[in-house]
Parts: sequence; C-alpha cells; structure tokens
Amino acid sequence: MSKKTALIYATVDGHTQKICNRLQDILLEHDQPAEVINIENFKGDLSGFDRIILGASIRYGVHDKKIIELINTRQAELESKKTAFFSVNLVARKAEKSSPETNPYVVKFFKQISWRPDVAETFAGMLDYPRYSFFDRTMIRLIMWMTKGPTDPKTVKEFTNWEKVDAFGKRLAEL
Ligand SMILES: Cc1cc2nc3c(=O)[nH]c(=O)nc-3n(C[C@H](O)[C@H](O)[C@H](O)COP(=O)(O)O)c2cc1C
Repeated sequence: MSKKTALIYATVDGHTQKICNRLQDILLEHDQPAEVINIENFKGDLSGFDRIILGASIRYGVHDKKIIELINTRQAELESKKTAFFSVNLVARKAEKSSPETNPYVVKFFKQISWRPDVAETFAGMLDYPRYSFFDRTMIRLIMWMTKGPTDPKTVKEFTNWEKVDAFGKRLAEL
C-alpha cells in the first residue's frame, strides 16, 4: 500500500518550498501521495501520515524556531513514524560542507535536539541579492566575500544540486 507523506517546511524566500515541491513530484512518480505544508499553516494533525519530512532553511545561522518547536513538542509521535529532515543553506554550496555530517548548521542542530530522523540531508540554497533588504544584502555580501562566493549585488544564483534532491526523494520513497 502506498504511504502518505507530509512535507512540512519553513521558508522565508520560498526556496525550501521549491525543494519540497520537487520531492512531492518524485514521491508521486513512485505512486506515493505527499502533501506539502507550510509550517505557518500547519494545524498540528499528523495522524493521517506515515512519513513526516521536515525541511528548513538557515537564516543567520539558525533554522526556523517553529520547526524546532514541532520536533520538541511532538518527538514521540515523530518517532512512531518514518521521518526525514533536510536543511537548506548557502554554506552547503561547498562540497566539503554539503553533507549532514559536515554542514556546521546541521551538526549543531543535532547537538541541540535528541530527535534523530531516519534520513537527513543538506542542500545548497538560493542567493538572490536584488530581493534582499539593504541590511541583509550587505550582511550576505560580507559572508560571501569571506567565503569566496559571489559578491556582485546583482547576483541571482541557485546553488541547489537538483540531482541530489531527486536522490533524496528516491530515498524517501523507500522509507
Ligand atoms: C537574511 C539571510 C540570512 C542568511 N543566513 C545564512 C547563513 O547564516 N548561513 C548560510 O549558509 N546561508 C544563509 N542564508 C542563505 C539561505 O539559507 C538561502 O538563501 C536559502 O535558499 C533560503 O531558503 P528559503 O527561501 O527557503 O528561506 C541567508 C539568507 C538570507 C536572505
């Protein structure tokens, strides 16, 4: 029987949602229905799902606190299901920081919580200077300058490796 999956995400600029939409497509290709849910609209009912996938982007070093709250308040329920977690950030554009074991945000995240999903992954996100506020643009340019990334304020660049997203989707279908 096909399993029902909830893809619950936290996003600011929509990129984590875009990744969830792609994961939904992959699951559907495997005849597995999946619902994509913004954490902002999540009503709290997980009972209809066999699999819970949580995805969140990084803003100034941290994942959205609503995702962390969901994990901490529903840990036992999550542990009764198949689960996965993924993080989206720009540090992950570097090959040596692109796995859950080597990405500093994911490593720190798992030090702060005791929940362990069946599968974890890290994806490089989107850089979109024109859409950021002056403050954010300045801060991100500084971070990019320090880490040898693009600093041209006109840069709009998607660093996401979609093949990696697809491979993660296939792993989810097998959970
Ligand atoms: C204000 C701001 C702060 C960010 N802080 C970080 C950061 O500390 N580390 C990092 O690797 N990426 C950082 N990013 C990059 C985001 O994680 C990346 O753009 C991601 O694709 C955003 O996903 P979202 O649209 O789902 O929120 C930041 C982006 C913005 C706009």
